[in-house]
Amino acid sequence: MYRLKIVLIFLFAVFGLAACFVGGDGQYSIANSRAYEASLFRQNCAICHGPEGEGKTIDDGTVVPSLRHGDFKAVSEAQIYSQIADGGNGMTPFRTQLTEREMRLLVKLIREDLRKGK
Ligand code: HEC
Repeated sequence: MYRLKIVLIFLFAVFGLAACFVGGDGQYSIANSRAYEASLFRQNCAICHGPEGEGKTIDDGTVVPSLRHGDFKAVSEAQIYSQIADGGNGMTPFRTQLTEREMRLLVKLIREDLRKGK
């Protein structure tokens, strides 16, 4: 009986610790990230795509898509890059506002953090 208790305490400790590392539901959080690309997102994209890139309807009625879920229009690196650089269909172009390096970092954020495993 005593050994069973030890084992149970040990298991709870391990799972508790694991939960801390995964952080809630395990999703990448733009709001909590200190990465430069996350701050670029907060400054340039969150106003339309929402603070976590989950999409929303903005004041003029434009439906802005989620960058995390759903059927993506822009899938490849090149497609996402040109959507950011050229905009279109209600999105402002960022070619003159961000550097090439910054746009590439945002492509990486979308593909490797927000859409990871999709
Ligand atoms: C003025 C509002 C607005 C801003 C600001 C904005 N977007 Fe968008 N974005 C949109 C809309 C609207 C669409 C849908 C365009 C379409 O349907 O072709 C879109 C589409 C996209 C897509 C394609 C989504 C898909 O289906 O694959 C990506 C990627 C994207 N935006 C990234 C960004 C990034 C990164 C930023 C910041 C640098 C940004 N957007 C800023 C409105 C905005």
